[in-house]
Amino acid sequence: MTNSESTSAASQGVGQRWSSRWLFILAAAGSAVGLGNIWKFPYIAGENGGGVFVAIYLGCVAAVGIPIMISEVLLGRQGRSSPIHTMRSLSQRAGASGRWTALGWLGVVTGFLILSYYGVIAGWTLHYVWLSMSGAFAGADGASVGATFDAFLADPWALVFYQTLFMALTIWIVGRGVTRGIEAAIRWFMPLLFLLLLVLFIYSLNSGGFAQGWAFMFDLKWDAVSSDTVLIAMGQAFFTLSLGMGTMMAYGAYVPEDANLGTTVVSIAALDTFIAIAAGLVIFPIVFANGLEVGQGPGLTFVTLPLAFSQMPFGEVFGGIFFLLISFAAITSAISLTEPALSYLVEEYNAKRQRVALSLGVICWLLGLGTVFSFNIWSDMMIVGDLNFFGFLDYLSQNIMLPLGGMLIAFFAMWLLPKELMYKQLGITNPAVGWAWRILAGVVAPVGVLVVFVSTLWPVLASLLGL
Ligand code: PHE
Repeated sequence: MTNSESTSAASQGVGQRWSSRWLFILAAAGSAVGLGNIWKFPYIAGENGGGVFVAIYLGCVAAVGIPIMISEVLLGRQGRSSPIHTMRSLSQRAGASGRWTALGWLGVVTGFLILSYYGVIAGWTLHYVWLSMSGAFAGADGASVGATFDAFLADPWALVFYQTLFMALTIWIVGRGVTRGIEAAIRWFMPLLFLLLLVLFIYSLNSGGFAQGWAFMFDLKWDAVSSDTVLIAMGQAFFTLSLGMGTMMAYGAYVPEDANLGTTVVSIAALDTFIAIAAGLVIFPIVFANGLEVGQGPGLTFVTLPLAFSQMPFGEVFGGIFFLLISFAAITSAISLTEPALSYLVEEYNAKRQRVALSLGVICWLLGLGTVFSFNIWSDMMIVGDLNFFGFLDYLSQNIMLPLGGMLIAFFAMWLLPKELMYKQLGITNPAVGWAWRILAGVVAPVGVLVVFVSTLWPVLASLLGL
């Protein structure tokens, strides 16, 4: 395909816009707020000692996450097409190597890997909405709640059933397009999500464990920090902000011309962080109030919490609300995970969005079977070290591919994209502001990622290579 052909294919495919700046903020926050905030963040914070982890994570969001998100959205709005086409046209415009298109591809692949396991875990939340509301946990003890979860994970058919349900819903929504699909879902799910979180927050405030939960989140106990903590916190910042894989670039392509990117992105990151912290402040107090442990790993949400709810007044209702909340959060993220690949295929082949969405969904679903089996028939089959298929995908995508993609995106936006374009996108007119921005996004953020990368991954690599 020639350059002019590729550009015209790119421009005819998208052309869609968010109805307003606020809808972009909600859609991007919908992408950002997901399993990462409500399932992962509390359990990772629990495993890594609480307060210090939270502090490092907040530092990563501010110093690395926000500048990289601004870079990603600005590239998207400048390119006005799918991440692959955007990287292709912007690298031509910048006179840079066409190899930068690979960054778009890296995003598409990463999105695929993440969605494949995301659909499986999100399926669990659907199952748990049903279990909680039907009173399955009423009066249950720890052993039986644990046994319910173990039995569920051991049954590939059950996992596939809920994975299919969740993926079908996702594909149906994205197939309908930006306005009729994504925006329509966002308009319902996001306000509901805030409302449910508020209800749960009030519940947790009265649970009797709030002070303890608060202390766990915000007291700095440095002895819990290991060499991996910073990498995990950074990976979490990337994952939770949906950075480094082109989602924000794809969504950025639909941002109206007059929206101020700086304040828009800060609002998105603030909403995402606020919800992660609020989720912690809902979960930890409920767990502590019932004398349970928070360091349970991934089972925190699916074992410890249902147990805690089962011992509390109106536990079925509030447990059900909690899992409904995660399901809503997960669906608005899953739809964004498809967008880089979906927009690319629609543009490139001038194809029907619904049909492309269905094909992508089926491939992702198939790949997701690997994750399903990681919890039963393949649980002991290790891919690297002690990581099975799911563990490997999770580690690779979150801790390596997203930071790598994010670092390269920031580098490209800062050092290769013509300065005038970048300043125009950001509305920067004052040279001092321009310099401050370049130092933050062009040096601090990518170098920060690099340092964390090298210092934590080098020992792992060296031991694998026997150095
Ligand atoms: N941010 C989402 C979450 O926290 C996950 C996600 C990652 C979505 C990357 C899109 C892109 O659950």
